[in-house]
Amino acid sequence: MSELPESVRYKAMVERIDRLPSLPEIVMRLVRVVNSPDTSADDAAELIEKDPGLTSTVLRLANSAFFGIPRTISSVTSAVVVLGFNTLRSVALSATVMEMFGEGGGAKTFRRDRFWRHSIVTAMIARNFARRNIHALMIDPESTFCAGILHDIGKLIFEEFCRDEFAAACNESRTTKRSLFCSEGAVMGVTHARIGRVLADRWALPLDLEYSIVYHHDPEAADKAREMVTLVHVADLLAHAGGVDLWDGEVAPGMWPEARSILGIDDGKWARLLEEVKQCVEKSSEFFSVVRGGE
Ligand SMILES: [Fe+2]
Ligand SMILES: [Fe+2]
Repeated sequence: MSELPESVRYKAMVERIDRLPSLPEIVMRLVRVVNSPDTSADDAAELIEKDPGLTSTVLRLANSAFFGIPRTISSVTSAVVVLGFNTLRSVALSATVMEMFGEGGGAKTFRRDRFWRHSIVTAMIARNFARRNIHALMIDPESTFCAGILHDIGKLIFEEFCRDEFAAACNESRTTKRSLFCSEGAVMGVTHARIGRVLADRWALPLDLEYSIVYHHDPEAADKAREMVTLVHVADLLAHAGGVDLWDGEVAPGMWPEARSILGIDDGKWARLLEEVKQCVEKSSEFFSVVRGGE
């Protein structure tokens, strides 16, 4: 029944956000190069080295405690060899998105540092889980990291392009004590997950990243990449459960009842994962400060 008004509203919103920045050509190409099986470390390094900002971010991060590599990495080629293509893609995409949306000045609906902490912790939890369960799940851990970094990007789009409506949704969420995801639907008629698709299309993101953005609150609806989407969904909820959210007392969105059993997370594992959230919070500040310290 509400299909027509919602789609009209959605279209109007999409038109408004038409000025969304494009992904820089180098990062676009990096995403494509990394997806291609016949790429050498030199190809990827050559691309990164075209961008001095990205080069220094990659080198700083490769040498930071975040990766904990015991020797100094002084060239992009060694960074690619040591960290791997997919990690480089994570780093390049994360650094670009963080820079693009920046910290911004003035009054904000939410604090950007809390937003990024939530995204980085979600990304780390999801990546670590994918690494530990690589044979059972067959999900690429670094793609999962990217998905975690980007999963809530729709909130930044709202903040940039629809701030008043989004602020109303945040207020509604605070006063009614329901999740922001629900309040966005009620107040704006569009959720951050759905609006994230605009960015995924515009940036031509790979399908697993697009699906993680669009379905991370509803993995049941993902007809492809469901394991990765479910993992991002659960990592997001773990971050919320560990208090890593946009504001104190933010109400977490609901969990898909089958999510934990799909990933084989019983109560004991859940408790251990919650402990892991605490460690990830510390490491997330390292990642954040290295990436944000570039300019
Ligand atoms: Fe979300
Ligand atoms: Fe989230």
